Amino acid sequence: MVALARTQAADFAAAGQKIDIENVSHRFELKGAPLPVLDNVSFSVEPGSFVALLGPSGCGKSTLLRLLAGLDHPTEGSLKVDGEEVGEPDPSRILVFQDPTLFPWRTVWDNVALGLEAQGILKSSKARVDNAVELVGLTGFEKAYPHQLSGGMAQRVALARALVNEPRLLLLDEPLGKLDSLTRLTMQTEIVKIWQDAGLTALLVTHDVEEALFLTQRVLIFGPRPARIVADIAVDLPYPRHRGDPRLAELRREALGHLGLAETW
Ligand SMILES: Nc1ncnc2c1ncn2[C@@H]1O[C@H](COP(=O)(O)OP(=O)(O)O)[C@@H](O)[C@H]1O
Ligand SMILES: [Mg+2]
Repeated sequence: MVALARTQAADFAAAGQKIDIENVSHRFELKGAPLPVLDNVSFSVEPGSFVALLGPSGCGKSTLLRLLAGLDHPTEGSLKVDGEEVGEPDPSRILVFQDPTLFPWRTVWDNVALGLEAQGILKSSKARVDNAVELVGLTGFEKAYPHQLSGGMAQRVALARALVNEPRLLLLDEPLGKLDSLTRLTMQTEIVKIWQDAGLTALLVTHDVEEALFLTQRVLIFGPRPARIVADIAVDLPYPRHRGDPRLAELRREALGHLGLAETW
C-alpha cells in the first residue's frame, strides 16, 4: 500500500508540467484607456502539484489561466511550461470553464470524444474516451444526452472532455461555481481523486476560501485588480481531508485575513 502510494506520487511528478511565471503584467484596453489586470506576478508550481489561485471577483484570475492556456499573451513578462515559453494552445494544457457548454445534440460519449475527433485520432484511441468517462464516474451514461444530465453530471462531462486529451496541466476556472452546494461538496472530493488518478499539475481558480483549502496543496492569494500575489499559503494536510479539521479553520482565518475579511471570522 505504502509502496503503491509512493509509485503514484512519483508518477504524478513525471506526468505533470512545471510552471514558471516571471514578472507577468497584463493590460486590456477599455474604451481607449488601459486597464491593468495583472501586476508583476511571479510564481512557480512544481510538477504534479495542485495549487489554488484565490482572489476577489474581477482581479484577473481567469486572465492568468488564459495566458497559461495560450489563449492570450501577456503585455509583459514570461510564462514557461516545462521550461518553454507558452505559445499557442496545446492539448497538453487544458482549460475547463465554469460553464460546461456541451453540444446538446451529441451524447456524453460523443461530447467527450470531441478533442480526439478534432485531432483526427479518434478511431485509434476510443479507449481514451472510455477511460475519461470512467475517471469522472459516468460509466453507464455514455449514451445520455446533455438534457438528461444533472448540473453536476454535465460538469463531469466537461472534465472528461478535458481529461481525454491526457493533459499534463489542468486549468480549472471556477469549475464548480454553478453547482448547488451539496453537489459542489461531492464534486470537490471527486476533483481531488481525479487529480490523484490522472497524475497531472492542476491549477484551480476560485473565490471560495474553503474550496481552495480543502482541495489544494498551496493557495496563492491575489489582491484586488490589478492582481498581485499577497500571500502564498502551504496547506500542510494529507488527503483525504476532513472539513472539520481544526487546521483548516486556522488556515481559513489566515486566508480571510489576507483578503481583508478577517472581521467575518
Ligand atoms: N478581453 C477583455 N477586454 C477588456 N477587459 C477584460 C477582458 N477580459 C477581462 N477583462 C477585465 O479584466 C478584469 C479581470 O478579469 P478576469 O481575469 O476575468 O477576473 P476574475 O477571473 O478574477 O474574476 C476585469 O475587470 C474584466 O472586466
Ligand atoms: Mg474569472
